[in-house]
Amino acid sequence: MPLLLQTRGIVKKFPGTIALKGVDFDLGVGEVHVLVGQNGAGKSTFLKIINGILTPDDGEIYVNGAKVFIDSPMKAKKLGITLTHQEATLTPNLTIAEYMFLTAKISRKSFALLRNSELAELGKKYLEFVGLSVNPMTKIKDLRAAEKQLVQVARALAEGGKVICMDEPTSALTKSEVLHLFNVIRELKKKDVSVILVTHKIDEVFEIGDRVTVLRDGEKIGTFNVSEVTHEKLVELMIGKPLVEFYEVGMAAKKKVEIQATPLLEVRNLYTTPSLPIEVPLKGLSFTLYKGEILGVTGLLGAGKTELGKALIGMEKITRGEIYIEGKRVRIGNPVDARKYGIFYLPEDRNREGLVLLLSVRDNIVLPSITSICKLHLLRDLKLEQRIADWYIKRLRIVAPSPEVRVDNLSGGNKQKVVIAKTLETRPKILILDEPTFGIDISAKMEIRRIIAELASGGYGIILLSSDIDEVLALSDKVLVLKDGVQIGLYQREELDRDKLIKLLGAKV
Ligand SMILES: Nc1ncnc2c1ncn2[C@@H]1O[C@H](COP(=O)(O)OP(=O)(O)OP(=O)(O)O)[C@@H](O)[C@H]1O
Ligand SMILES: [Mg+2]
Repeated sequence: MPLLLQTRGIVKKFPGTIALKGVDFDLGVGEVHVLVGQNGAGKSTFLKIINGILTPDDGEIYVNGAKVFIDSPMKAKKLGITLTHQEATLTPNLTIAEYMFLTAKISRKSFALLRNSELAELGKKYLEFVGLSVNPMTKIKDLRAAEKQLVQVARALAEGGKVICMDEPTSALTKSEVLHLFNVIRELKKKDVSVILVTHKIDEVFEIGDRVTVLRDGEKIGTFNVSEVTHEKLVELMIGKPLVEFYEVGMAAKKKVEIQATPLLEVRNLYTTPSLPIEVPLKGLSFTLYKGEILGVTGLLGAGKTELGKALIGMEKITRGEIYIEGKRVRIGNPVDARKYGIFYLPEDRNREGLVLLLSVRDNIVLPSITSICKLHLLRDLKLEQRIADWYIKRLRIVAPSPEVRVDNLSGGNKQKVVIAKTLETRPKILILDEPTFGIDISAKMEIRRIIAELASGGYGIILLSSDIDEVLALSDKVLVLKDGVQIGLYQREELDRDKLIKLLGAKV
């Protein structure tokens, strides 16, 4: 296999952390090389370095055997290296065509004067290649997550990309969208395009990878041919110790709570009007949630899970139906009202909605619950805050140099853990968790499941919005299945098994 890209001894230091400790890596022509590791292992940092977003403190990069200095994303692109982002958030108002040729327009005279319709024409064949049949004049913001991914691949191809780096591309995709993306990757290989794929889903290593490299705490633990490793072996290498039995955490950690006469929450015949164009209206949802219960709400992307979460905190317009809290009819107009009723929602988009990026890890964790831990509501009890923050940092294995460090310095998964910590710490009566473990590494995922189960045992009511059916089945007492905003079934956990649920969802899994 001829080598396309090599790195030797890449070191990247941040204040208080060495994110990469001398990483050697190589990528063959037409190879899919998967990069795995726990949250904070250095995966994103590595991709940013070979894409010129960060510069290394030490080490060398070679492309086709020649030493290169990649000091800007533009330089990386010239060398044929691009990075797809999980969300193309920077350019929401551009059309697909504009987005695809943005770099070309800036850097090439021949493109500068082209009109949008001409760009659209040029972009067509790349969009076709990735199997996208959307109009190239569609705005980026109106695309679904899967489509955004594919547009970015199309753009990389249009730019003559030879190495496409993908940082957790599948975390917001449904199974069939993932299969589609993987088919596109197979086509890319045929064109000798190489892919570096970062993922937390170990199954994907075996589905699509040729080789896999494991990073742990900034060090390369090893590179293997996929045919030479097993799932268990990889997880052990990632966590650095033998695999303990943490797969089946969930109901095992949950005590049965006696069902009370009045439900904590009752929703009757709920209808909504979407607040965003990509959202679906909810049409006639009815369910109850008792103290100590976990209600799993599942469905494919676009089924209405997030919309339900938002409706319950007053962020979606309710057009019909009633909500009762402990038997009393309530009207929830906004998240502040919801808080008063003891309802708290953990959003899916945690970077944008969940964190104050300029504050420290500790402040983020204690911020929402600060009034309850303030002595006399006047003084902050810093010692107590420290203890609370330390507890979560340890339990969720939040990788940060110290609790004082600003949250924007954390890796993606560790940021998510901070949002989860702060949400759990508010200890609301009703906790709505939207995809609580996506992007989170395996050991923290099990720890979060354990905490969810413990909270329910303590009498909280939990609504778990999740497209991860294994998670739903592991934790829920009842499962509400949604499709296009409609309730297609409400089941007791005992009535369901994995196959039945998959059938109900109508998904190809
Ligand atoms: N801008 C930054 N400033 C300071 N520290 C940073 C910065 N970016 C990353 N780090 C630190 O470098 C380490 C590696 O982070 P990186 O984002 O590469 O992890 P990751 O493997 O991508 O994790 P995840 O799976 O959570 O996305 C972490 O300890 C992180 O806190
Ligand atoms: Mg990352």
